[in-house]
Amino acid sequence: METILVTGGAGFIGSHFINSMFRKYPDYHFVVLDALTYAGNPDNFNLLIKNDNRFEFWYGDVRNSEIVNNLVAQADYVVHFAAETHVARSIFDNKVFFETDILGTQTICNAILKNNGRIKKLIHVSTSEVYGSAVETPMTENHPLLPCSPYASAKAGADRLIYSYWKTYEIPAVIIRPFNNYGPHQHLEKAVPRFITSAILNEPLTIHGDGSASRDWIYVGDHCKALDAVLHSENRDLYGKAVNIGTGTAITIKMIAETVLNKMNKPLDLITYVNDRPGQVEKHVASTERAKKFLNWEPETDFDSGLDLTIDWYASNQRWWEPLRWMRQIPIKMKDGTVVMH
Ligand SMILES: NC(=O)c1ccc[n+]([C@@H]2O[C@H](COP(=O)([O-])OP(=O)(O)OC[C@H]3O[C@@H](n4cnc5c(N)ncnc54)[C@H](O)[C@@H]3O)[C@@H](O)[C@H]2O)c1
Repeated sequence: METILVTGGAGFIGSHFINSMFRKYPDYHFVVLDALTYAGNPDNFNLLIKNDNRFEFWYGDVRNSEIVNNLVAQADYVVHFAAETHVARSIFDNKVFFETDILGTQTICNAILKNNGRIKKLIHVSTSEVYGSAVETPMTENHPLLPCSPYASAKAGADRLIYSYWKTYEIPAVIIRPFNNYGPHQHLEKAVPRFITSAILNEPLTIHGDGSASRDWIYVGDHCKALDAVLHSENRDLYGKAVNIGTGTAITIKMIAETVLNKMNKPLDLITYVNDRPGQVEKHVASTERAKKFLNWEPETDFDSGLDLTIDWYASNQRWWEPLRWMRQIPIKMKDGTVVMH
C-alpha cells in the first residue's frame, strides 16, 4: 500500500482532496499533518474516513522538521497544501504567512532531500495570486510574478523555492497554481461563502471597491480531479513546471454577489460597497492550455452548477458554519491609518 502525506489536509481544499481520493483509491494510505489553525477543521473529513485505518491524522506544524522528517520517511507522495491563506488577514498581520508558507515549504523540501529518492512526487499547491493583476490575458504560466499582497508574495517565495530545489537537487516536484476555488466547507472569510451566508442571514453582502475586480472561479471538486491527474501522471516533463488550474473565464465580484442573491430570491439592495482592499488584484483569468496538454484535464463544473451545489450545502449545513460567523470580517488598516472592516 502506498502512502500519501497531505499537509494542511483539514482545510478547505485539502479535505476535499482526501474525501474524494479516499473513496476512489482503496489502496492508498493517507497521512494528514495539520496544525488545526482557525482554518482547519477535523469535521471536514467524513466520519467513515476518520474511523478507517487507512487514515492517520497528525496534529502538528509543517515548520517542525522533526515531525515532518518522520512523516516524509514513511510516505511515497507528498501533497503540500498547508499555508496561511487569507489575503485580507495578511494585510492585517503577515509574519505567520512568511513563516508557514515559506519556511513550512522549505521544511518539506529538506525532509524530501533527507529521505533521498524515497518520495516519488511532491505536489506543491501554489496559487494564481503569485501573478498579481493580469498584464496579459489569458494568464499563462510564463506571466510575470507580481504578487500584490503579503499572502501572494509569501506564496510566490514558496513557489520559487520549490523550483530552486528541483533545479538544484532534482526533487520530483510539480507546482500547481489554482485560481479562485469555491465549494462546500470553505471558511466564511472567503467571498463566495461570505456572500451565501450573508444572504441566508439577510445581512449585507459587502463588496470591496466597485465590484469590477474579476477572477477565474474553479469548483473545488474539479481542482481535486486535476491534483489526481498530476499525482498519477507519468510524464517526467512536469517536474519543475508550474501548471495553472482554472477555467479560462473571468467573473466579477459584483456579478457573483448578484447571482447569489438572484438564485436565493433575495433583494439586490443587500449589496453594500466599502473602500477597496489595498493590494487588490483587478483581473485574473487562467490560460488552461498547459493543464490540457500535460494532464488531459479540463474543468467539468460550470459556474452556475458549482454555485448551486455550494448554495445548497451552506443552506443545509448551518451547524458547520455557525461557529465561524464572527470571523467573516477582518480589520484592515488603510494607508491613512483608518481601520476598515473587510
Ligand atoms: N482557496 C483558494 O481559493 C486557493 C486558491 C489557490 C491556491 N490555494 C492554496 O491551496 C492551499 C489550501 O488552501 P485552502 O483554501 O484549503 O486553505 P485553508 O485556509 O482552508 O486551509 C489551510 C490548512 O492548513 C493548515 N495549516 C496552516 N498552518 C499550518 C502549519 N503551520 N502547519 C500545518 N498545517 C497548517 C490549517 O490548519 C488548514 O487546515 C493553500 O496552500 C492555498 O494557498 C487556495
